Amino acid sequence: MNSEFNRYKEIVEEHLLDFIPEIDHKSITIYEAMKYSLTAGGKRLRPVLLLAACEFAGGDINRALPYACAIEYIHTYSLIHDDMPEMDNDDLRRGMPTNHKMFGNAMALLAGDGLLSTAFEVMHKDELLYFDDSAKLKRRIRATYEISKYCGCRGMVAGQVADIEAEGKQCSKEMLDYIHINKTAALIMAAVRAGAHLGGADDQMMEALTLYAENLGLAFQIVDDILDVVGDEATLGKKTGADLENNKSTYPALYGLEASQQRLLELTENAVNALADYYDNAEFFTQLVKDLAVRVN
Ligand code: IPE
Ligand code: IPE
Ligand code: MG
Ligand code: MG
Ligand code: MG
Repeated sequence: MNSEFNRYKEIVEEHLLDFIPEIDHKSITIYEAMKYSLTAGGKRLRPVLLLAACEFAGGDINRALPYACAIEYIHTYSLIHDDMPEMDNDDLRRGMPTNHKMFGNAMALLAGDGLLSTAFEVMHKDELLYFDDSAKLKRRIRATYEISKYCGCRGMVAGQVADIEAEGKQCSKEMLDYIHINKTAALIMAAVRAGAHLGGADDQMMEALTLYAENLGLAFQIVDDILDVVGDEATLGKKTGADLENNKSTYPALYGLEASQQRLLELTENAVNALADYYDNAEFFTQLVKDLAVRVN
């Protein structure tokens, strides 16, 4: 990853636990379970994108931190639930035993609930600080709305539903894109759009960044699917071959590896082209999507 990515990532990691509220000692297990998965590692792609989009639009990334951390809480909750026996049944995540393996199913379910609700607490708490500045307040409400919309049953949750229902079936190509766009691209689009709102992007920039993020998001899930076939467990920190075992509808399963690679290149090009009007300033974003394709070469 490029050095700009690492700059954003370091800021995220430094502050990731700052917004978790103080928890009554009597329910300290929930804190331990949430913290376990949050600090287990991870690429931090979504919060990094949120900060980068905010800065790209001219905003101060320090003011965007609550939203960046909130989206990582939501992503981490989605992984905890995704790994549970009722869903993908995985034992390894981010190089560590999955949350339910460490804390049991009930606590893993609750850790996910805790992270999701904390995300909204954190964002709304930040909004409360701007009651007397309606322009800044509007940007924050827009950011929170984007995240709420894309993480729920019109976004990530919808994709997870379709993913589970497509197990063991020969799903159409259209359906596969629906799954991938929702389960994965939605949160990536939310990150970029929320960051852009916080930075004060105009409509034209918002449109360009959204198109970029949709292509990046789909490309990201195709890479994830390919790595499940050709990747290395130690590097990925999660089990490979799991999609085949679970009879998942994936790009390699439906199109084969070569055509999946080809689609990846097309999406990379689309993402780069989406930001053509901003070419001189968009290097972070264009480099990021190009680096992604390199992960599976
Ligand atoms: C994993 O996301 C789930 C997908 C949407 C493919 P990441 O690959 O971003 O996982 P972490 O955050 O780096 O662990
Ligand atoms: C997960 O997709 C997407 C979400 C968690 C929303 P996958 O099930 O392919 O992710 P991995 O491979 O377990 O990380
Ligand atoms: Mg899954
Ligand atoms: Mg999974
Ligand atoms: Mg996967």
